[in-house]
Amino acid sequence: MFHGTFIHSTSPGSIEIVHDGMLVVGPDGRIVHFLHDIPVGGTQTALDRLSIRASECHISIISSDKSNPGFLIPGFVDAHNHAPQWAQRGLGRGLQILEWLDTVTFPNEAKFANKDYARKVYESCVNGSIKQGITTACYYGSLHGDATKILADVCLEKGQRAFIGKCNMDQNSPVYYTDVSADESLRVTEDFISHVRSRDPTFSQITPIITPRFAISCTRELLKGLGEMAAVNEGLPIQTHFNEAESEIAATLSLFPEFDNEADLYDHFGLLTNRTVLAHCCHMTPYEVERLKALDCGVAHCPIANTTVGGGFMAAPIREFLRQDIKVGLGTDSGGGFSSSILDAMRQAFIVSNAREMMTKGEDKSLSLEECFYMATLGGARVCGIDHEAGNFVVGKHFDALHIRMASVEEDESDLASTGIETGDGMRTVFEKFMMTADDRNIANVYVRGNIIHSS
Ligand code: GUN
Ligand code: FE
Repeated sequence: MFHGTFIHSTSPGSIEIVHDGMLVVGPDGRIVHFLHDIPVGGTQTALDRLSIRASECHISIISSDKSNPGFLIPGFVDAHNHAPQWAQRGLGRGLQILEWLDTVTFPNEAKFANKDYARKVYESCVNGSIKQGITTACYYGSLHGDATKILADVCLEKGQRAFIGKCNMDQNSPVYYTDVSADESLRVTEDFISHVRSRDPTFSQITPIITPRFAISCTRELLKGLGEMAAVNEGLPIQTHFNEAESEIAATLSLFPEFDNEADLYDHFGLLTNRTVLAHCCHMTPYEVERLKALDCGVAHCPIANTTVGGGFMAAPIREFLRQDIKVGLGTDSGGGFSSSILDAMRQAFIVSNAREMMTKGEDKSLSLEECFYMATLGGARVCGIDHEAGNFVVGKHFDALHIRMASVEEDESDLASTGIETGDGMRTVFEKFMMTADDRNIANVYVRGNIIHSS
């Protein structure tokens, strides 16, 4: 049982702040009760009324006193990340996207042929991601089957919910880092799916995700085979990079001249479904926005990578996606970007939306903090197709949550860099200070399905 202040999204534009909330998690990690307005002194009576014996409960009281202000929020969802790029974060500034892949990323990802190296880096990556409060991550692996199995094992061991894909790429990549054929790429993918099934038969924590890197690096035969694999394994999610940069779109359409746009290309191969996660979506024609809406695809907005990997200042039309109720979450894309923090991604989403407002002469209004928080939690859960299981505090969902701590401005000894809390600050102000200035030091506990998977 948790008692304290809870903050969560109820829709893209609104958060609910529950003071004196009392939330009960069952043995299966699902929220069974969420009562409002129960003062801390009233929890015993409330438990009695629910016929729950306090002695059978683990009770956590999250204080929201000025001297020790804390609250609970849903765990963050990172809808787009590349686990093998963990050790290259921040590198390659000044390079255009396709040059950056050739000179920084492919040589780096090729190192994952070595299983010992893969385990070492993946342990660091998953620990680092959990520490940032990411309870669900959507990861690309490298092209190697063995290393990708290790990534799945590491997520299982550490308790992070994850979507993991063996990266498919059988053309236009260096010889030392290309699938030898479409058939081999498909075979390794099937073998990876079998591995996950053997460890987690119902995909309750780890779900394999079909991962064509992007059309440039896939032959028609491979794209067709992956689309068929998704269709026969009904419901398997799919992820790829979509309309990221002008140079990438031009290269794609010259390799696939039979298509006018990327939406028709991926759709032709059966890769656009209601379980597809499309990273970036920066340059969208009205027709493509309409197609994403009609096909119910989700967008992983990666505002940090979009403004650091060269190719232009790529400000995706997030306001338009929200207007059309297209699913949108946030991705750290932490090889392309510089940060593995969803808090940083939320802030950059806010900044990029200011640019977008200017670029559209006011038509696309900048995002509110509520909208950025929604994308980081419930929006990401919708993109990943787990909004019936996670994303906010609704009875029946799993308790995936973060205990956030803040410090009073008067506390000299605080190890936190976040803006201090002053007497009289309401919870909306505390939330704003958290959103704009907090980092991983503010994340005291990370829960997945009611279990603590990290404490600081
Ligand atoms: N397009 C294809 N591969 C990648 C990648 O690794 N990162 C980004 N940002 N874009 C890509
Ligand atoms: Fe990416």
